[in-house]
Amino acid sequence: MPEPDVVVAPGALAAFAQRLLEGVGVTAAKAQLVAGSLVAANLRGVDSHGVQLLPYYLEQIEWSDMDARADGRVISENGACLLYDGQNGIGQSIAEICCAHAVRIASAQGMAAVVARESNHFGAAAFWAQKISAAGHIGIVMCNASSLVPPWQGKQPRLGTNPICMAVPGGEEKPWLLDMATTTVAAGKIFKAKINGQPQIPAGWAMDSEGVPTTDPETALKGLLMPLGGYKGSGLAMMVEILCAVLSGGAMSTELGGIRFRGKPVRVSQMFLAIDIARFLPVDEFRARMDGLIRQMKATPPAVGYSEVLVAGDPEWRMEEERRQSGVPVGRGTWHALCEAADRLGVAAPVIAGDTA
Ligand SMILES: NC(=O)c1ccc[n+]([C@@H]2O[C@H](COP(=O)([O-])OP(=O)(O)OC[C@H]3O[C@@H](n4cnc5c(N)ncnc54)[C@H](O)[C@@H]3O)[C@@H](O)[C@H]2O)c1
Repeated sequence: MPEPDVVVAPGALAAFAQRLLEGVGVTAAKAQLVAGSLVAANLRGVDSHGVQLLPYYLEQIEWSDMDARADGRVISENGACLLYDGQNGIGQSIAEICCAHAVRIASAQGMAAVVARESNHFGAAAFWAQKISAAGHIGIVMCNASSLVPPWQGKQPRLGTNPICMAVPGGEEKPWLLDMATTTVAAGKIFKAKINGQPQIPAGWAMDSEGVPTTDPETALKGLLMPLGGYKGSGLAMMVEILCAVLSGGAMSTELGGIRFRGKPVRVSQMFLAIDIARFLPVDEFRARMDGLIRQMKATPPAVGYSEVLVAGDPEWRMEEERRQSGVPVGRGTWHALCEAADRLGVAAPVIAGDTA
């Protein structure tokens, strides 16, 4: 049986994450951004993209696989289109800059397509799409990722879990917020199961290296992730690969490194799309129409075995409300990895009642 989680207050967890990043030489501003984005994912219940990622980010910086000092540069800006070179900087830092460009350009031009190449892992896409929706625009964010997924009917990895996210400004209802890998689940969910000692993962998440479905986390990690909905997931992953990597002139498919591979830069590409709602209809009218659509979905009678109909974003909004009150549960394996990093870097870990890590 896995050991029980360690529960940490969100503020203490973010401060700990920031100290760890500063411990490997990241500036306070960038460390705060990365820490805030990771804990935001934990708060939403997206633990695959929370502080579980931090030990890998720290190693990437310590091994000089990622350049924490790089800020990237604009390669070109032409009308609504901007191309950015991330210069192997921290993914969150590049994404923050690109979101600001997307909002600026969409406010002036009605739409913006900002694409970054030579970037690094930016965590959960929702954090960035929400930056755009907070400015009153529709935000669509995608990225390619290290190859862990075969194209449908294949048995060697050629594609990443290539997420697609769309965020819209909210009305009276909680905002609709779709943030999904183009595999059945994000790879981090399998890492979470493995690192925290869970014996099995659900069927449909992964395959062994021969393409045979497996529920064993270890076999899955050595094997392949399952494309979402068969060939349709492969098609969506290719769409992301095209919009991010082909279009930007960035690394494609097996040219990418990965956050868990040493000695190779990650080289992901990311797309940030912003659509200025006000160019189509008043933002308040859009919000009211979104409320109407969401209410129509939720008024659907639930199918057998369900008590209600949800829309994208609902599980995470609910989890966030709960975790803001009760704290963030961090798996024991993840907590040990964070405490080990803290020991190595001479950083103080938060004191948790009953913790012997
Ligand atoms: N940076 C990267 O390289 C990378 C790669 C892959 C995934 N990710 C991130 O991984 C995270 C997790 O992705 P995932 O695909 O495992 O997420 P998931 O399967 O948990 O959720 C996907 C979406 O489905 C919605 N959803 C869940 N249950 C629902 C229900 N009952 N009814 C209606 N909607 C429902 C959620 O609100 C969410 O928007 C995302 O934040 C994504 O950005 C990042």
